[in-house]
Amino acid sequence: HFLTLAAVSGLAVACGGDPDSPGAVTLDFANPLRVPTLLHPKPGKDGVRRFELSMQAGQSRLLPGKQTATWGFNGTFLGPTLRASRGDKVQMAVRNQLPEASTVHWHGMRLPARMDGGPHQPIEPGAVWEPHWTIDQPAATSWYHPHPHGSTAQHVYRGLAGMFILDDDREVDLPSTYGVDDFPLILQDKKFTAEGAFDGDPLKGTFGILGDHILVNGTFNPHLKITTERVRFRVLNGSNARMYNVGFADGRRFHVIGNDGGLLAAPVEVDRFSLTPGERAEIVVAFAPGERVVLRTFDNGVDIGKGDFDLLLFAADPRLKPAPAVPSNLTPPSPINVPPGAKVRRFKLNGHDAINGKGMDMSRIDEVVPANSVEIWEIENNVYSHNFHIHEVAFRILDVAGGKPPSYATGSKDTVYVPSKSRVRLAVQFGGYTDPTSPYMYHCHILRHEDSGMMGQFVLVQPGTEDQVSRTLPTHP
Ligand code: C2O
Ligand code: CU
Ligand code: CU
Repeated sequence: HFLTLAAVSGLAVACGGDPDSPGAVTLDFANPLRVPTLLHPKPGKDGVRRFELSMQAGQSRLLPGKQTATWGFNGTFLGPTLRASRGDKVQMAVRNQLPEASTVHWHGMRLPARMDGGPHQPIEPGAVWEPHWTIDQPAATSWYHPHPHGSTAQHVYRGLAGMFILDDDREVDLPSTYGVDDFPLILQDKKFTAEGAFDGDPLKGTFGILGDHILVNGTFNPHLKITTERVRFRVLNGSNARMYNVGFADGRRFHVIGNDGGLLAAPVEVDRFSLTPGERAEIVVAFAPGERVVLRTFDNGVDIGKGDFDLLLFAADPRLKPAPAVPSNLTPPSPINVPPGAKVRRFKLNGHDAINGKGMDMSRIDEVVPANSVEIWEIENNVYSHNFHIHEVAFRILDVAGGKPPSYATGSKDTVYVPSKSRVRLAVQFGGYTDPTSPYMYHCHILRHEDSGMMGQFVLVQPGTEDQVSRTLPTHP
């Protein structure tokens, strides 16, 4: 199938979709890339920075001449970018103006379970939820999205998602001026009806939705003007199911500098990297004056990564502002040392709706984990593609199907691809916020699977009290 739009911007270039490659979508890159606004926090008591978010329904113009019913934060689609620094005390005020209950989860954030925004922290229509915590983790690209059990896929698909950038003062000399040389790229695939409505049922089929229109920051058919010699992109796979295998149409190489939970020890030069839903990568790309180059996702033959799609055209100014070279050493989060005899937990992903033979039950605690521990988690997948996300933690990938992970994925992570018929082993560092009655989640981040029950719950407890913890929660929403 081809989508050929009239060239309206003069930006149409020969480096668009390859018409001979199956699944290619030919774009003319007519639309300027939307860049989510930075949400400025309000000063609160005791130096608290208060971020106000409102979940709302509306209409968005995503396709030319068409209106799509969408949901967003502080607008009709996606949400503003939040930015905070290590040590900041933050408070969120999330108002739900939707017709149904939802939640907001801070994906990648190290914080107490009651602030986490999982399925146990519902926000009823008309209500305001005000979680607060102190940012205590390295610089990273995190994000936020709803997490109401059974409805996450629908709420995210309609447009509820945003970036949450964390800084710390150890950062080396990297591009970091938001909207100038540091951009979020939120990748989401959609299906549209002829009238422009979102199509497809995110809870049907093996994976839910694998769309044929890819939006970047909610922009279809986008271009971005480049003004500096090097640009940092914080790439988020905010899709329900699709895996992206990202590179440039001209095959150029670039540097991956960070994973989900922070910077890599050193930049890794690649021509492609892949991301499954929920994963992030930070990259730095060099541009030549006046050039135009297209960012694409390439078919990788995997069930959730099929099809070649153009994502975005970069159009560099004839003169570019100088930018420092990518530093050869970055300032990564501390390594995770697995102690001898570390506890090993095994998780088997079953079909599309269970882990270790059990579907998600909000009243059941599946795992009790001592605070501040390091454990090995083994994820086994005998079926089609899945991935695995753990709330609150940082982990490193030890191995994938017995082999090393790609070198660009050796940094701090919270979500990992689990290829079909393989086993992935993780070294997981848990945090110190104990609460035996408030669980964190672990789950497949293919939202159709998460909503169908491929999710479990763990609590963090004082070491030595594991046996005293009740495995059932007294009440649940
Ligand atoms: Cu991004 Cu439990 O989710
Ligand atoms: Cu999460
Ligand atoms: Cu899955």
